[in-house]
Amino acid sequence: MAAWPTYGKIDGPIVMIGFGSIGKGMLALLERHFEFDAARMVVIDPDDSGQPLLAEHKVRYLKEELVPANYREILSALLTEGEGTGFCVNLSVDTSSLEIMRLCREIGVPYIDTVVEPWPGFYFDRTTPPEARTNNALRNTVRQEKATNPGGTTAVSCCGANPGMVSWFVKQALVNIAHDTGHSFTEPAQDDRDGWARLMRDLGVKGVHIAERDTQRARTPKPMNVFVNTWSVEGFISEGLQPAELGWGTHEKWMPENARVETIGPKAGIYLMQPGADTRVRTWCPTPGPQHGLLVTHNEAISISDYFTLRDGDDVVFRPTCHYAYHPADDAILSVREMFGQAGKAQPELHILEEDEIVDGIDELGVLLYGHARNAYWFGSQLSIQETRELAPYQNATGLQVTSAVLAGMVWALENPGAGIVETDEMDYRRCLEVQTPYLGPVKGYYTDWTPLTDRPGFFPEDIDESDPWQFRNVLVR
Ligand SMILES: NC(=O)c1ccc[n+]([C@@H]2O[C@H](COP(=O)([O-])OP(=O)(O)OC[C@H]3O[C@@H](n4cnc5c(N)ncnc54)[C@H](O)[C@@H]3O)[C@@H](O)[C@H]2O)c1
Repeated sequence: MAAWPTYGKIDGPIVMIGFGSIGKGMLALLERHFEFDAARMVVIDPDDSGQPLLAEHKVRYLKEELVPANYREILSALLTEGEGTGFCVNLSVDTSSLEIMRLCREIGVPYIDTVVEPWPGFYFDRTTPPEARTNNALRNTVRQEKATNPGGTTAVSCCGANPGMVSWFVKQALVNIAHDTGHSFTEPAQDDRDGWARLMRDLGVKGVHIAERDTQRARTPKPMNVFVNTWSVEGFISEGLQPAELGWGTHEKWMPENARVETIGPKAGIYLMQPGADTRVRTWCPTPGPQHGLLVTHNEAISISDYFTLRDGDDVVFRPTCHYAYHPADDAILSVREMFGQAGKAQPELHILEEDEIVDGIDELGVLLYGHARNAYWFGSQLSIQETRELAPYQNATGLQVTSAVLAGMVWALENPGAGIVETDEMDYRRCLEVQTPYLGPVKGYYTDWTPLTDRPGFFPEDIDESDPWQFRNVLVR
């Protein structure tokens, strides 16, 4: 293996919150790419199953559950211990990203997370109306914090694979389509948001699917009453039971009857009165070709639609539709079906597939940009479990796509220490992909003639819009 680059020195304490599937994988990348004193790193997690691994790596472990009443005291003490500036890496469930980010910025410590996570209660509170349980509502809390307290210490919000890396893929895909279609253009500057939105509009892109197919297969078939996934089961169940949600493009002419237009924040999306993991959409990935994906809500569905919005005064003149179209590992598909068979009640046992439990498969995760002169273009990572094993320990292919994005986000944050609160759409996509790509396996683009109307209607009459294949009316499985 060629020598891995060191990206910089973290001369204060590193505090990692959460040591689950992503935290464990992240440990290896931290050690490989940053200079720091392991004795000054601490991992906080109420579950001590990772303690032996931490002891092996000479990293301190604190068995603690962060809660609203203790997080300030615990984190302030740890993050300000000794000389230098540390880093707070939040890879937990059930902690408030917003509040921890706010604290870190108060004490001048850079921060990163992979999701806008709330304190426990948010996802499963039956008394809150559906819109309050959307990712748009969660994201808006962070956007408001950014608007109220602009600038200051860098805090990177939602920097995993998706949300995260896929926002960098969207920009790379736009540049590739522009070259491939002979579109004459100058690449917009990193902070020229309108320039990027104009490029998307001028190329004719109507929308973006975050199109993923995870083919990783377990050695042992999924037993009944166990929810199996390739990353956080708790995280997947939480988001899967949120309303299906998508950024809503200006080309859309039809909405499902149970759709509601968002009234919070940028008002860039809609949500459906049904859970995302029980909502299917038609999409396309290189390996399976056409497939059904789950319309699970994600931060990037809203952030990408919001970022690429063009306005004339107060009027929105262009916005792409954007949503996740997720075909998780087959065991996770079975787990979702089993869970909804029980009215959404989670199985008594939750299990994340570790690298050594997987026989084969790839996590094919990319962005499908559609509606342009060459119909549709998928651009993304096709990382296999075999290649993952050669690249980094303690994780499967899904995990490495996430941890390498966290790595890229941390490098960017160290290089841009006073950038304030940012989402990945607002970061330098070239620099981030430069850091991340060595961990992504094949990163490739594919054009396809497929549309959501291909081979339809089938045996039965269908409610489709033949005038424009890329209407959500044709995408949603009904
Ligand atoms: N953006 C992305 O691409 C992406 C992908 C995968 C995971 N994620 C997110 O990353 C996070 C970690 O994922 P994972 O797969 O490692 O999850 P995991 O379920 O394996 O681990 C989460 C860890 O958080 C710990 N935890 C729970 N409550 C805590 C508390 N109050 N204080 C401190 N720690 C606590 C748990 O004990 C667990 O070890 C999740 O929020 C997940 O949604 C994002």
